Amino acid sequence: TTNIAVLVSGRGSNLQSIIDSIESGNIPDARVSVVISDVKNAFALERARNHGIDAVFIDPRTFVDKKAYEQELLRVLGQYDIGLILLAGYMRIVGREVIEAYRNRIINIHPALLPSFMGLHAQKQAFDYGVKVSGCTVHFVDEGMDTGPIILQRAVPVLEGDNADTLAARILEQEHQIFPEAVKLFVEGKLKVEGRIVIRT
Ligand code: GAR
Repeated sequence: TTNIAVLVSGRGSNLQSIIDSIESGNIPDARVSVVISDVKNAFALERARNHGIDAVFIDPRTFVDKKAYEQELLRVLGQYDIGLILLAGYMRIVGREVIEAYRNRIINIHPALLPSFMGLHAQKQAFDYGVKVSGCTVHFVDEGMDTGPIILQRAVPVLEGDNADTLAARILEQEHQIFPEAVKLFVEGKLKVEGRIVIRT
């Protein structure tokens, strides 16, 4: 069984999609072993508890610097024999040491078609730019921000009368499809990373 850690900062709807996918038997060889939040009142922590999953808040403000914070993150992860880390609305850049410790075992969901609209508020960036197609991307995490090898993408149209919020909601529905799909592929050992390219084996 692959033990999964999910890092979150907020609402946790993507976390929920993973939990639901596992509970419905869609990803037989995985379990969410711990959910870690950098935000105390993140609803994602409650979702975890509702499913009997360990929910851990690590307060970044109680550490002298990012390095110390991530040491604590590594310590907690170390308690669970983690085989896969998911970033599900985790609003921090993961540092080098965590990436090196879990090379090609960290997966992020991003609400745009990378490499367009990296960073925060990608749906609003895309809407404000005036694109007619946006979407979402699941990718391995490397040292850059939203730059790692792409696993899956799904296109989502921008429709007449949309605003940034209606577009974001349409994208979110697809996030909830492709994130569990990518996790399933990873857990089944079907993803191979060759440089930038992710090959399905
Ligand atoms: C999702 O749209 C996710 O793609 C995005 O935050 C939202 C979290 O929602 N992530 C990023 O923007 C990463 N920079 P959720 O907490 O309901 O899953």
